[in-house]
Amino acid sequence: MLKVGLVGFGGLGHVHAASLWGFEDAKITAICDIDPEQFKKQDVEINFAVDANPFDITTCNTYECYKEMLEKEEFDIMVVALPTDLHADYSIMALEKGINVICEKPMALTVADCKRMVEARDKSGKELMIAQCIRFWPEYEYLEECIKTNKYGKLNSMIMERVGSYPYSEWFLDHKRSGGALIDLHVHDMDWANYIFGSDPDTMSAEGLIGKTGGIDECNVLMKYEDTLVSIRGSWMLKGTFSMAFQANFEEATLQLDWSKDPTITIYKDNEEPTTYDSGKESAYAREMRYFIDTVKGLHKNEKCTAETSMMSIDLVLREAELITM
Ligand SMILES: NC(=O)c1ccc[n+]([C@@H]2O[C@H](COP(=O)([O-])OP(=O)(O)OC[C@H]3O[C@@H](n4cnc5c(N)ncnc54)[C@H](O)[C@@H]3O)[C@@H](O)[C@H]2O)c1
Repeated sequence: MLKVGLVGFGGLGHVHAASLWGFEDAKITAICDIDPEQFKKQDVEINFAVDANPFDITTCNTYECYKEMLEKEEFDIMVVALPTDLHADYSIMALEKGINVICEKPMALTVADCKRMVEARDKSGKELMIAQCIRFWPEYEYLEECIKTNKYGKLNSMIMERVGSYPYSEWFLDHKRSGGALIDLHVHDMDWANYIFGSDPDTMSAEGLIGKTGGIDECNVLMKYEDTLVSIRGSWMLKGTFSMAFQANFEEATLQLDWSKDPTITIYKDNEEPTTYDSGKESAYAREMRYFIDTVKGLHKNEKCTAETSMMSIDLVLREAELITM
């Protein structure tokens, strides 16, 4: 049984705890949050409902100080679900104790911090994975399969979108802590593009708006990967509910992800009735956690979500920010 520690028991901390609750080979033995009120909550608000059993906090030890938890407990795995400005230092503290780390996205707010995390991983000989949930999201995995197998011919163009209103916790509203929507939210799709194409775009142009975080809270980037056009929009400046969407235009079909539909993916072809693809309801958060635990157990190497590729995604969004603020 792998012993798991968790630091940051807010929105994503609860999500990861709920995922781990369903596993038989890993158990949360201690949780840390500076705000003990979080220990009393069965559920917390995130952008969308996650189907999982709420975690029973009475089954583990609780701490309000991370250093104390690290001193008193022994762990195989640490889940870091903290505000983004703390990702690097808190992940490194765990790695230095010889603990494998899965840390929420975005990896960090600077490439220098990402590099420190990778160096600490290398020094420790342990695993470090950034929880890029979209790489494990069933709809996006189907799109990945279609792109990689040329199921509908070549991908000509793709539009991705991730939009909503400003998030629930105060720290998100300070771009020095969250990076604003560009680094916090938009990074999901930028990371996915980076993961799929595996290299820098040949060209990139971008526009954006400074919002109430003081950072870029609305942005639109246009990139060209060889002869595929990719346009990605992210925003916290909308009213109404959160949504994520894509439209992928292949030679022989157009695939559309619409969050409000069930099944969420519709496939359009010339002169044919549209069909749908049901990618199932499995939680991407549980799937990424399963992948990480199996990596730690030595069942496979982490080839799907290396820290190096997450660092590349941070580098990419930071270069996008430079284009916007130039
Ligand atoms: N993968 C996703 O879909 C997704 C969605 C939302 C957020 N996130 C990411 O997850 C991370 C956490 O976001 P969240 O939505 O859970 O935020 P949150 O505000 O809900 O939770 C953060 C928690 O960390 C605690 N905390 C703050 N400083 C601490 C410290 N020094 N020691 C211990 N606990 C501390 C807070 O009290 C809070 O409970 C962020 O990096 C965010 O970008 C990912």
